[in-house]
Amino acid sequence: MSYIRPLQIAGVTCANNLVLAPMAGITDSPFRILCLRGGAGLVCAEMVSAYALHYGNARSGRMLQVSEKEHPVSMQIFGSDAQTIAQAAQNAQAAGADIVDLNAGCPVKKINKAGAGCVLMKDPDHLARLVEAAVKAVKVPVTLKTRIALNHKEFLGARLAHLAQEAGAAAVIMHARAAVDVHSGPPNISALAEVCAAVKIPVIANGGVLCAEDAKAFFQAGCAGVMIGRGAIGNPLIFKDIANELQGLPALPHTPVQRLRTYLALIEENVQHYGERIGINRSRKTAGYWIKDFPNAAEVRGQFVRLDFFAEVKALLEGVLAGLENSGQKSAQKPMILL
Ligand SMILES: Cc1cc2nc3c(=O)[nH]c(=O)nc-3n(C[C@H](O)[C@H](O)[C@H](O)COP(=O)(O)O)c2cc1C
Repeated sequence: MSYIRPLQIAGVTCANNLVLAPMAGITDSPFRILCLRGGAGLVCAEMVSAYALHYGNARSGRMLQVSEKEHPVSMQIFGSDAQTIAQAAQNAQAAGADIVDLNAGCPVKKINKAGAGCVLMKDPDHLARLVEAAVKAVKVPVTLKTRIALNHKEFLGARLAHLAQEAGAAAVIMHARAAVDVHSGPPNISALAEVCAAVKIPVIANGGVLCAEDAKAFFQAGCAGVMIGRGAIGNPLIFKDIANELQGLPALPHTPVQRLRTYLALIEENVQHYGERIGINRSRKTAGYWIKDFPNAAEVRGQFVRLDFFAEVKALLEGVLAGLENSGQKSAQKPMILL
């Protein structure tokens, strides 16, 4: 029996149960497409403010845009009152989201000050009303992304998941770390197992998955799907890597050449999507995940972050690629380039 199988979220069938996590500033349309090609069964968009949508903020509206090449896709919204959440869920649905996800796990102060993100965990009944408002507002499935706990004293995950289920959520995404831990430390597998035992809806587990062994521990705890965040940055093939290993299939070849070629293609895609200045700027933020594992990588990163134009970036990275290919970094097997 393989752990890898289709994931059913109400009426939405995902080809497999490995999911790209929502990450602000990272999981935009070009990166989501890359991860679908890298084997993700479902991709999640970065969080969008329900208030900003309510006030017609153009940038937030653009963040909801879905390309034809990226289904199934889940759009995440955050906010703190039922009416605004319901309206934002409708906006996400109208934009083409296959699933609408409500954020109740973000520990960022700015978000929490507005009563959204993980502070919603302090008032589970109010959170359940937000879920219900979104469920009633749209036809697509609604999911809740939350955490096992706010702190190390009290586990809330099972209760929150159960309330979400009763409020009509089609699945719950559970980050197996407390909010106080933000994104560090090992996931709490036994707290996650409690969540899985408490509900009938699928539980998608999240936190620290970097390899097949990590994913397997979550599946063995009873979850239906596994969500991967930082492990996908610089390696969108992580979904295929994990699926292959858990299914006993051969490992894919990974080389710095393949990684750099995929990065260059992503930068080009970002430039087309956002325009040159913003496209290069966004690409820069993740340079450390992509430009690595070859002798002068740090120097190349230093040069790269000072460049403003795509032609310069392309010349730099093509030069590095030529050097790597000539110096025998080339893999005997043909590496998979994703874009
Ligand atoms: C840069 C960054 C941005 C994030 N943005 C969001 C977000 O918009 N919405 C959300 O629910 N979680 C967000 N997260 C949390 C991730 O979805 C995920 O829960 C977290 O990274 C743990 O998973 P990982 O250990 O696989 O990275 C973000 C995490 C990072 C690192």
